Amino acid sequence: MTIKKICCIGAGYVGGPTCSVIAYKCPSIQVTVVDISKERIAQWNSDKLPIFEPGLEDIVKECRGRNLHFSADVDTGIRDADLIIISVNTPTKMYGLGKGRAADLKYIEACARRIAEVAQKSKIVVEKSTVPVKAAESITDILKANVKPGVKYQVLSNPEFLAEGTAIKDLLEPDRVLIGGEQSVEGHEAVKALSCVYQNWVPKEKIITMNTWSSELSKLAANAFLAQKISSINAMSAVCEATGADVNEVAHAVGTDSRIGNKFLKASVGFGGSCFQKDVLNLVYLCECLNLHEVAVYWQQVITINEYQRRRFSNRIIECLFNTVTNKKIAIFGFAFKKDTGDTRESAAIYVSKYLMEEGANIRIYDPKVEKDQIISEMTHPNMCEDKERVSELLTVCEDPYVAAAGTHALVICTEWDEFVTLDYKKIYDSMLKPAFVFDGRLILNHQELIDLGFHVETIGKRLNRGIVYRPASST
Ligand code: NAI
Repeated sequence: MTIKKICCIGAGYVGGPTCSVIAYKCPSIQVTVVDISKERIAQWNSDKLPIFEPGLEDIVKECRGRNLHFSADVDTGIRDADLIIISVNTPTKMYGLGKGRAADLKYIEACARRIAEVAQKSKIVVEKSTVPVKAAESITDILKANVKPGVKYQVLSNPEFLAEGTAIKDLLEPDRVLIGGEQSVEGHEAVKALSCVYQNWVPKEKIITMNTWSSELSKLAANAFLAQKISSINAMSAVCEATGADVNEVAHAVGTDSRIGNKFLKASVGFGGSCFQKDVLNLVYLCECLNLHEVAVYWQQVITINEYQRRRFSNRIIECLFNTVTNKKIAIFGFAFKKDTGDTRESAAIYVSKYLMEEGANIRIYDPKVEKDQIISEMTHPNMCEDKERVSELLTVCEDPYVAAAGTHALVICTEWDEFVTLDYKKIYDSMLKPAFVFDGRLILNHQELIDLGFHVETIGKRLNRGIVYRPASST
């Protein structure tokens, strides 16, 4: 079977970039990305795309209107396609059974039901969203229970491994593409058809095929291993601070062992993003349901360390500021969960800001890519705060880092944006109250230079100060 028309349901951080790259690399395939959010589709069709990813805009501009289309007409998209990619959100369930841990599959189920309702010819349905093991089976059950005469379905698992901030590069040159399918003649044919789409630009040896359950579990396993690596180095950072070891030196020594590898070994204020926490919790819940208690406890600890790290960093800010931040102005640099994205989901900055505001601090946030409305919406989310008025009293969003820092007691780096490294810290120091503190939660700044300017510097995994150095104003 040759795929000529693809429909992707879900025009988000995964569906948008993934389908843009498919359209870019496969000019003979018509790709339509559909979404129930008319607003999001309008943004994809405008000059200001709904998400920021380096390289994305150029690709969209080249393909849009040619073989890449964004549409709010979900039914027509489904009806016309040979292959349908489901790329809707699978957030942590916030109600009922499995609350706070299980993945909420209601959006996936809605897609399966819509496909069954609308489709008039056979289709390959590709599960790209991250799901618990056996979700493909549930999709198949829903499709089969509602099937129309003459229509057949094959459901594949094709999890996405892109990382936000490097999505286009990851999609153009993936480490691997994973396709799981039913172990039958029809299943193998469907796997082959999807594999042929990828072979337009991905070397054949990088396309791994396996059974559906292995494929689904591999995605959860990969994210759990990645998150575990960060929690491992973050746990070590606490030991470093207590002993005088330097976490960067330890990471370097550990990472040069090729069995461990040096990537993803950077200590920080903790991981964020929409995936790591959700997928590890999803794995924990799966293990609990399978009565694998010890395994569940093992993976839960990855999340516990991440929460501990965010709390530990926030507590250090409070301790250093003489055990009170009430009415003190504190600048937060960076609100996105990592650099080169405007995504703020589960960002460490949200938690650090929340903890400081609970102590009465006035928070001044600056981020080069996150809009003011987005910051306010995260900080006033019902899961985050009980008193919206208090948030609006204590929170200021700034459009300029120097304005954000002026008159503050402390500057807190929460995101590793490149531009933070090259700011004029002398100018910032002069505009701050003294003693002026920098808390580098990403280990990106030149700490000695800051200390020489007069800052009291605190970071993660390394002791820089034994006490506060007071300097006469004239010496700076
Ligand atoms: P997202 O929230 O950015 O986008 C999902 C989109 O699906 C939204 O625009 C929503 O309106 C739409 N949608 C929901 N239900 C729909 C329906 N019934 N019909 C049509 N549209 C519908 O989510 P994101 O970040 O793109 O994630 C999608 C999936 O990919 C998730 O399962 C996630 O775990 C997984 N994933 C995400 C990665 C990331 O970096 N964001 C990386 C790898 C996988």
